[in-house]
Parts: sequence; C-alpha cells; structure tokens
Amino acid sequence: MCGIVGYIGEKPASPFLIEGLTKLEYRGYDSAGIAVYNDGNIRIEKSVGRLSSLVEKIDGEPLKGCLGIGHTRWATHGRPSDLNAHPHTDCSGDFVVVHNGIIENYLSLKEELIEKGHQFHSETDTEVVAHLLEDVYDGDFEEAVYSVLSRIEGSYSLVFMSKKHPDVLICAKKENPLVVGLGDGENFIASDIPAIINKTRRTFILGDGEIAIVKRDSVAIKNRRGVPIEKKVFTVNWNAEAAEKGGYEHFMLKEIHEQPKAVKDTMRERIKKDGSGVLLGELGWTSKFLGSFNKVYIVACGTAYHAGLVGKFYIEKLARILVEVDVASEFRYRNPIVDKNTLVIVVSQSGETSDTLAALKESKRLGAKTLALTNVVGSSIAREADQVLYTWAGPEIAVASTKAYTTQLILFFMLALYMAEIKNTLQPARVKELISLLKKVPAQISETLTDVEPIKTFAKRYGFNEDVFYIGRSLDYDVALEGSLKLKEVSYIHAEAYASGELKHGTLALIVEGVPVIALATQKSVYEKTLSNIKEVKARDAVVIGIAAEGDEELSKYADHVIHVPETDELLIPLLTVVPLQLLAYYAAITRGCDVDKPRNLAKSVTVE
Ligand code: G6P
Repeated sequence: MCGIVGYIGEKPASPFLIEGLTKLEYRGYDSAGIAVYNDGNIRIEKSVGRLSSLVEKIDGEPLKGCLGIGHTRWATHGRPSDLNAHPHTDCSGDFVVVHNGIIENYLSLKEELIEKGHQFHSETDTEVVAHLLEDVYDGDFEEAVYSVLSRIEGSYSLVFMSKKHPDVLICAKKENPLVVGLGDGENFIASDIPAIINKTRRTFILGDGEIAIVKRDSVAIKNRRGVPIEKKVFTVNWNAEAAEKGGYEHFMLKEIHEQPKAVKDTMRERIKKDGSGVLLGELGWTSKFLGSFNKVYIVACGTAYHAGLVGKFYIEKLARILVEVDVASEFRYRNPIVDKNTLVIVVSQSGETSDTLAALKESKRLGAKTLALTNVVGSSIAREADQVLYTWAGPEIAVASTKAYTTQLILFFMLALYMAEIKNTLQPARVKELISLLKKVPAQISETLTDVEPIKTFAKRYGFNEDVFYIGRSLDYDVALEGSLKLKEVSYIHAEAYASGELKHGTLALIVEGVPVIALATQKSVYEKTLSNIKEVKARDAVVIGIAAEGDEELSKYADHVIHVPETDELLIPLLTVVPLQLLAYYAAITRGCDVDKPRNLAKSVTVE
C-alpha cells in the first residue's frame, strides 16, 4: 500500500514529487524517498519516518532535474529504515525503481542474482527488480522491462527510470493501482489520483498487465508483449478530498471495499503451491516448538479482540489446543496464569495500542512466548513480540476497523491450519478442502459487495431506532459482537449482541414490537436451535433481518428480510457475514448524518491507558 509518483517534463521534478507524495502519505508513512535525474546522474535521497524528514533532509540542497520518481512506503518486506526506503537501484546505479506490492518470488530471484555477483543493500523484495533489470538489459530499456515483468510473480505497480534513457519513464501495473496524468509538455505518474489532481484531470488509468511508456510529449500504453493498446482518456471529476478516498464518500466505505484485495494479499505467499497446507516459514519457531504449547492466550482490544474470539474458535476446533481470549485492559491486571508453556497472541491493527502493548510486556515478564498479529511493520508491538505475523491490509484510516478484522481472521485461520498440521489433528483431505475454499474468499467478499441496495434500504428504514439487537450462536455470535460494535461506533445506535441461547435469561424482556433483531444463522450444527431463537423474538413482534448462506430457504419463513452471502464452509463464513454488517453500520451512520470516519469520542489508535 505504498504511494508512488513520477514526473517527466520541462519543469523541476522534485517540487511535484514532494507535493504528490504529500497527497499520498495516507498510503504509507514509514519512510520516503525520491530520485531525480540531472546531467547524466541520478541523485537519490531517502529518509525513514514521515515525509517531513525527507523534506528536511533535502531542504538545504534541492534535487535538480526534470525527470524523477518518488515513493512513500508502507513496509512489507524489510523494516522501515533508510536502506529499505525506495527508490532502489541496481549495482551500477543505472536503473532506479519504485514499487508498490509484493514480489512473491523475490527470494529465488535474489539467490540467482547474488550467484551472478549482484550486491544487495536492502532487505526489500523490490531491490531484486532493479538488479534483474541490470541483468537482462541489452541496450533496449523497454525490452528489458518486458523481460523483467516476465520473470517476476506477485502484485505490483512499478516505475522504472534509467540514467541511460533520460527521455522516458516506464511503468507497469498488476493488481495495484497506477495512473498516468497527461500534461502539456509534461506527464505525471502516480499510484493514486490525489497526487496529480492539482496538475491535470486527464488521465490513463492503467489496467492489469498494462505498461505505459511515458515521455515528455507522449504516452504509449502497451501490453506485456509490447503490443500497443488503444486506451481512452479518463477525465477525473472528483474533488481533491474525494480523490483521496478513491472516489468513495468515506474511508470506511473505501476500506470495506478493499477487503477482497486485503484478504488476498494476506494469504499471498502463505499457501503451498499444491494447496496441501499453509506456509508460515516467517515464524522463526520450529514446528516442534510451536507444537509444544499447552495453552494459547489471545489478548487484544476492540475489533481486534473480536477477531481473537474467532481465532479461539479456529485454533480450538482445528488444532485442538485450549485457548483463552481476553481484552488487554483486563488481562494485564488479572495476574494471568501464563508461563513458558503458554503462547500469548496479541492482536493489534496499529501495533501501538497501549493496553495491548502492556499485556504483551506482562506476558513476556511471566515467561510466556509471544506472537503478534499486526498490520504495521516496525510498530511497537511488532518490535516487542518474539514473533510477528503481518496482515497485509495496507493503512487503515477510518476509526471503525473493517479490513483489519477480516485480514486478522485470515491469519488466525491460517495459523490454526498450521498448528493443526503440527498437531496432526486434521485429515490431509480436509486441509485441502479448507484451503481451496479459503482461496475463494476474496472473490466471495467481492460478490457480497456487489448488491448493497437492500442494505441501504434497511439502514434507512431502521436507522432511527434507538436499539438494535444482534443474535447468533457459535461463530455467528462472534460476528454478531463485531457487527454490533460497528453500529455503535459509527451510528451511535445502542446495539447489543447476544448468544441466541442466552436471550431467554434476561434480554428477551427488551424485545418488543418493532425492535430490529439482526439474526445470523449460518452455523449448521446449531441451525435448528438458532431458528427456535428467531421464532422467540418473532413471537414478541421483533423485526428480524436474517443473515444466511446462499441456498438457505428456511430462514425467510421466519425472518422479515434475509440477506444472503455466498456459501462456504461454516468456519469461513464469518469473513462474508461481517461484510453486510459493516455496510449496515455504515449506511445507518449516513442516514443519521454521523461523521463516519471520525466518530465522536473515539480514536484510531489508543495509546493511553
Ligand atoms: C481503537 C479503535 C478500534 C480498534 C481498537 C484496537 O479503539 O477505534 O477500531 O479496534 O482501538 O486497535 P488496534 O490498533 O490495537 O487493533
């Protein structure tokens, strides 16, 4: 989720590069860098930290030249540092590259290039691209780029620049955004429209597999074999603020829609090619060591805590290890029973939540081994934990967490499968089946996002109710908790989630005519019992909105409305059922005129106790 810019024209490049990166800083802010060509040389300046550190660094001696590229980084491979910041170069310094995405086969390429004598300076996957370019270059820059693209696997938006070809920038896109802005005697490249909107509104939005050959006076779009493509100019009519949100009205909605990609990125490189298991080699523990824990504690706050509840279900069900889940602010004062045989997993999108960090430190003090699931490379929690698994959701800006939750679920599911293999608790055929279903989840989330009209209608109809209840059993209950939290956070409606079977022990007294009850009914083993609970609330004249898997005809007999999600294994369905609940919360907040991205009294990252 990094930000990329490029400039070719008659004016000095660096003012645009810095201005463009400023507009993209929301995409990544752990380090930044620019490279500018001047008089046969390319000068590169990089700095760890916010963009302001880079600006300070170059203030005294601005980079001269009318051709340049820049990057603001959200670390994936390699911690945030000056060396890992982009742009990256080959050995000779002739080729310079900026990249957003993940080069999946970078390790094998790196080995091959090192064997040929290339010297690497960073821990990034990107650097391999620059060396590969140097390796295949035979006088024809464009041809060399095609050759590089044919060797790399993964996702990318890339911009290539060469000292030997100062009349051109070449960029390529696969699965990550890239746009070329068309100017007069100058052209611009950016990962996102906000970077160029002050310069031009005429753009080419590159599609997957497309390459742009960008010169001062021309832009040619080609496919990966170099065949020219006819492309229509897209005129941007968003204002600057809308552009930052990718055309969505709010970051929350944008991030809800980013989930298919975030989930896919989180799985990337972690599934065996033949689909027979999970690869978590990044964990520096041996299988024997990971298999030696007799208890797991999951500790987190807010949405991450809700992900932990699902994590408990996965680990207990698949790997048959006892799991306790606790909110971090309780755990740390509980004098928890953890020791060297306990694995403590802390979950935190930001990696900075103070209570979670304190719980992590307390666990270490008590002798437990610790594993962090986080979204931010180099965050305090990532640095403090013994081991880290990253969600690759990209920066989450909206206070209400959405894509972090689904990516945390993915990590927990993969970790549970990994532990199950170690513990030998699952048949290989079942593992294969679950992995093949897991791979379908990104597309199924996309499907869930295609028809939001019924959800908008419910939000309008019930958005002014004072109370809303969420019910479910088993994993449906865990998702109900997250759904109700989303509604509370952004719409300020009083929302409560209950385990359906627990209703009759008190809460049923609150169910009166017209009260909306969101009932999740996807768990087959408790399906009949869930239906009975739905009948209980219907008998008190509640309005029931059911959430069910496709093909479920039964629920509509009892519920007033039913939202269907694609069918999958009941273990994976939380990844789908949470999506309409996120959307419902979002549209309810819109109906009530709430400030969705900055709900009252709440903060994105809570670094105080
Ligand atoms: C805050 C945010 C929540 C988030 C929680 C934990 O309360 O508003 O959205 O779930 O912190 O944050 P973390 O970064 O640790 O996941």
